[in-house]
Amino acid sequence: MYHLVVFASGNGSTLQAIIDHIEDGTLLADIQLVVSDNPNAYALERAKAHGIATYILQSHTFEAQDAELSEVLSQYPIDLIVLAGYLKMIGPKLIAQYTLINTHPSLLPKYGGKGMHGLHVHQAVIDHHELESGATVHFVNSEYDKGSIIRQTHVAVAPNDTAETLASKVQAAEKIQLVQVIDDFIHGILS
Ligand code: GAR
Repeated sequence: MYHLVVFASGNGSTLQAIIDHIEDGTLLADIQLVVSDNPNAYALERAKAHGIATYILQSHTFEAQDAELSEVLSQYPIDLIVLAGYLKMIGPKLIAQYTLINTHPSLLPKYGGKGMHGLHVHQAVIDHHELESGATVHFVNSEYDKGSIIRQTHVAVAPNDTAETLASKVQAAEKIQLVQVIDDFIHGILS
């Protein structure tokens, strides 16, 4: 069995897509743990509803969080860590020990970096009158949204799109792409 850990800070609809594909048999994997920095993240409720263990980050400094997660994760078998709407930086211990991927709701390198998450990204795309946006899966390194790009999906921006309508289109494409990338890791097509 291929073992995933998913990090999520908010709603967790991306986590839900992974859970759904595991439960319907299209992803031959399990989720060992869902990690959140936010005790109120709905992602934690989604995990619990599916019998998945959860962990809430306790420390406050970057170094302490890295050490804490390194210790916690050492208790689980892990093939891949997926950041699915996780807003904290990942520290050097985790980067050295694990393969981590992140999904980001824009065509990186555009509209990435600190503060660029969720609706902020889509609003910036609209404000810049972009004709297209999309979703990117990339490896995680020590800088926000700067790791090497694994795959991108393009989504057209309609003239009447708002940040909310664009978010829903991008997120639909993003979930399909992320599940396919995870499947490629499971099958050794990506590593
Ligand atoms: C997703 O679109 C994800 O790409 C984005 O937040 C959303 C999370 O939705 N992540 C970032 O913007 C990270 N920079 P969810 O909580 O419903 O899965």
